[in-house]
Amino acid sequence: MAKIETEFTRMIDIDYPIIGAPMFLLSYEELVIAVARAGGLGAIPLPNFRTTEDLKKTLKHIRDATDRPIGVNIHLSGRFEWKAQLSLCLDAGVKFFITSLGDPRLILDDVHASGGKVFPDVISLEQGLKSRDRGADGLIAVASGAGGHCGTIPTHIFVPYLKSKTGLPIIAAGGISTGAQMAAAMAVGACAVVVGTRLVATIESRAQAAYKEAVVKAGPEDIVCTARITDNPASWLAESIKDFDEQPEVGSRRWRDFWSAGQSVAQVEEIKSATEVVREMVEDYIRVCKTLGEPFLEIR
Ligand SMILES: Cc1cc2nc3c(=O)[nH]c(=O)nc-3n(C[C@H](O)[C@H](O)[C@H](O)COP(=O)(O)O)c2cc1C
Repeated sequence: MAKIETEFTRMIDIDYPIIGAPMFLLSYEELVIAVARAGGLGAIPLPNFRTTEDLKKTLKHIRDATDRPIGVNIHLSGRFEWKAQLSLCLDAGVKFFITSLGDPRLILDDVHASGGKVFPDVISLEQGLKSRDRGADGLIAVASGAGGHCGTIPTHIFVPYLKSKTGLPIIAAGGISTGAQMAAAMAVGACAVVVGTRLVATIESRAQAAYKEAVVKAGPEDIVCTARITDNPASWLAESIKDFDEQPEVGSRRWRDFWSAGQSVAQVEEIKSATEVVREMVEDYIRVCKTLGEPFLEIR
C-alpha cells in the first residue's frame, strides 16, 4: 500500500501517521511490534515497568523483532526513575517521547541529540503555549471523549485552535477509531493521530478478555468521564467503576479492574489484530479521501 506522508511521518520516518497509544497496563511489546510492522508508530507507557530491568527486557524484545521507529510515554516526575528510563530508551533508538507529567525541558537536549522528538500531551491552549515556550517539537491535542486521561474540547475544534495559536505540528488524540475519523482529524490540521480505545480490543493488547469484550459491546453512552478514580478527569466504562470506593495502592492488581475507554467504543465492532486495525484504517482513510474528492472532480 502507498504511504501517507505528513510532516509527522517525515519527521519520524514511518509509513502512516497512526500512533498506537501508550496505554497503561495494556500496551507492551506485542502491541508495539504489531503497530510498527503495520507501518504505524507503536508506543509504550514507561509506568508499565516496575524496574528498569523489566523495561530493558521489553526494549530488547522489541528491537529483536523490528528496527522500525517506536515511541514511549515518559513521566518526568520524582516518582519514576525517568533518567535511567530515558537512557535505556535512547540506547534502544526510541525516537518519539510523549511527556505527560513534568517539564519537557528535562529531556529535550538528550532526545534531540539522538535525533528524536518530544511531544507533550495537552488539554488546553495554556498548556500548549507553555510547552511550545519550553521547546517542545509539537503537541498532542488530547480531546474530549478520549480514552485514558481526557480533555474537554472536541478534536475538530481543539486541533485547529492549537495549530493556529502555537504554530506547532499537532497530533490528534481522542475519538479516532476509523480511517474516516482520521481523515476528519487530518482535514482540520492534524499531522498524525493517536489511537487508543480501538486498540484495547485487539489480540495484542494485554486487556483481560472481559475488558476487550466490554469495549466491543459498549456504546458512547456507557462511557463516563470522572476525576474520582485517578484525581484527574479520565474516561471509564461506567460499569467497571460502579463499585469503586477508594484508590488502590500504586502497583496494586486492583487497578486492572477499572477499565478505561473513550467514546470511540462506538466504532469498535470486534476483537482483531492491531496490524489489521492499522491496515483497515489506512484503506478506509484512502477511500474517504477519494470519495470526498469526487464531487470536485465532477465539477471540473
Ligand atoms: C486504557 C487506556 C490507557 C491509557 N493509558 C495511557 C498512558 O499510560 N499514557 C498516555 O500517555 N496515554 C494513555 N492513554 C491515552 C492515549 O494515549 C490516547 O490519548 C487516547 O487513548 C486517545 O483517545 P482514544 O482512546 O479515543 O483513541 C490511555 C488510553 C486508554 C484507552
